[in-house]
Amino acid sequence: MLLKLQNITKGYGEPGTHSYRQVLDGLDLEVKRGEKIAVTGPSGSGKTTLLNLIGTLDRPEQGNIFFEGKDITGYTKSGLANFRNKYLGFIFQLHYLLPQLTLMENVLLPALPAGGKISVEQKEWAEYLVRKVGIWEQREQKPSQLSGGECQRTAVVRALINKPKLLLADEPTGALDEENAQALTELLVNLSREEGVTLITVTHALSLAERMDKRYVLKNGLLA
Ligand SMILES: Nc1ncnc2c1ncn2[C@@H]1O[C@H](COP(=O)(O)OP(=O)(O)O)[C@@H](O)[C@H]1O
Ligand SMILES: [Mg+2]
Repeated sequence: MLLKLQNITKGYGEPGTHSYRQVLDGLDLEVKRGEKIAVTGPSGSGKTTLLNLIGTLDRPEQGNIFFEGKDITGYTKSGLANFRNKYLGFIFQLHYLLPQLTLMENVLLPALPAGGKISVEQKEWAEYLVRKVGIWEQREQKPSQLSGGECQRTAVVRALINKPKLLLADEPTGALDEENAQALTELLVNLSREEGVTLITVTHALSLAERMDKRYVLKNGLLA
């Protein structure tokens, strides 16, 4: 088991007051290594909240999260930052590329150690991925000179640059037209298979959800 969520509770507002809103209510989830999971559910059902907890960007109120059998729930802030860097990759609906950097510079940014240099191996891995997702010709261009689909493929490469074990995607095709959404879906499925990356994606797109190994619906704070 790569990831295990046990009895996760999360809400917003002051607990015990009327401002409190429970979003996740004793949620369980198990994800095996290499598995591709889709989480669907209506807007406001807590999909992003769930992904933020798995991504350790936020903490559950109750419950535990295990990664490779280790309980990461009690990690310190810096412990979690190390964990994220080492094991997780993120793709969002909007690509958040830096406009002043080229495609290749954007991709390499997460690999850059503070004040350090990119290794030859990292550069080769970046080049391999950039070719693989079909944006090699555009590598010196800036985001404003790229199409929406090219930007999102750049974001996928950036998410994979540190060889994460778990890729988390929040509506990755949400801002793309049908054709580009389809292409990105294929890309994610192929990369997950060929690079052995486990994928959890939140999506409204049936065409993406149906390519995953398992589909869950988030409803009333639980996965079904
Ligand atoms: N930071 C926050 N503060 C207060 N309420 C929030 C916050 N983030 C999300 N919510 C609320 O929690 C619920 C679930 O939100 P979210 O996880 O973003 O749902 P989804 O991604 O499924 O649309 C929504 O009602 C939303 O308004
Ligand atoms: Mg959301």
